[in-house]
Formats: sequence, C-alpha cells, structure tokens
Amino acid sequence: MTRIAVLNGPNLDRLGKREPEIYGSATLLDLENTLRERFPKVEFEFFQSNSEGALVDKISQLADSNYSGIVFNPAAYSHTSIALLDALSGAGIPTVEVHISNIHVREEFRHHSYTAGASLAVITGMGQKGYEYAIDFLLNR
Ligand code: DQA
Repeated sequence: MTRIAVLNGPNLDRLGKREPEIYGSATLLDLENTLRERFPKVEFEFFQSNSEGALVDKISQLADSNYSGIVFNPAAYSHTSIALLDALSGAGIPTVEVHISNIHVREEFRHHSYTAGASLAVITGMGQKGYEYAIDFLLNR
C-alpha cells in the first residue's frame, strides 16, 4: 500500500475557524476525511503541529520509514524555516508543498518559501483542493 504523510504547520489546527474567507470553511478533520475518502488505497499519516521542532522530528521519523511522499503545508514556517528545509532535504522523500491561499498575491513576506527549495512542486491558491491535487501528482508521476 502506498504511504503518504500529510503534514500541516502552525495554526492549521484552526482550519474552518481561522479566516475562513482565506482558508475555507472545512476543518482539518474534514479535510483529512475527504482525503481518506478520495484515496481509499493510500495509507495516510496525518500530522499537525504548531511547533517547528515537532515538525522536524516528524520529517526525520518519516525518513526512516517507508513513505512514498509527503504533502506539506508548512504554513508560516515556509517563510522562515531553514530547519524544515534541511529536514526535508535530508529526508529524500518526494514532497509537494501546498498553500491553501495564493502566497504570491498576499503580503510580500509570504512570497518567499524556504521549504519550497526541497519540494518537487508547489501548489498555491487552489484552496483545500490543493491537497488532493498534490496526492494525485505523487501517485501518478
Ligand atoms: C498558508 C499561507 C501562509 O503564508 C500562512 O502563514 C499560513 C497558511 C496557506 O495555506 O495558504 O498559515 O500556508
């Protein structure tokens, strides 16, 4: 069975409540259930943390397991975290970075993503559907 990890960074635990006009009205649990339904043959590992270190630890744990891909929304850490960039580079697992909003039409500090430097592809601005497109890409590339 294909194993894919879906990782979400800070404040994405508040999906559905947090600025729904930007991030959508479905909660993180709704999103995870949608992905499970849409891809019944995939074995998912879902992980969300508000802490950079916990995300680094999770990525290194995945590196030592048998994962075919990571779908990662590092949220605000995209714009700041060399530690997460290094973790992803060291893990060697094909990763697609997802942003629900289009980071390029928002504040300038969101335009650059460090973590994108270790990702195969970036999906930004396609709403929560972006996670589905990312999984589709990982399964069919
Ligand atoms: C985000 C965009 C980031 O700039 C922001 O800090 C987030 C969410 C997105 O999914 O659009 O928390 O990654």
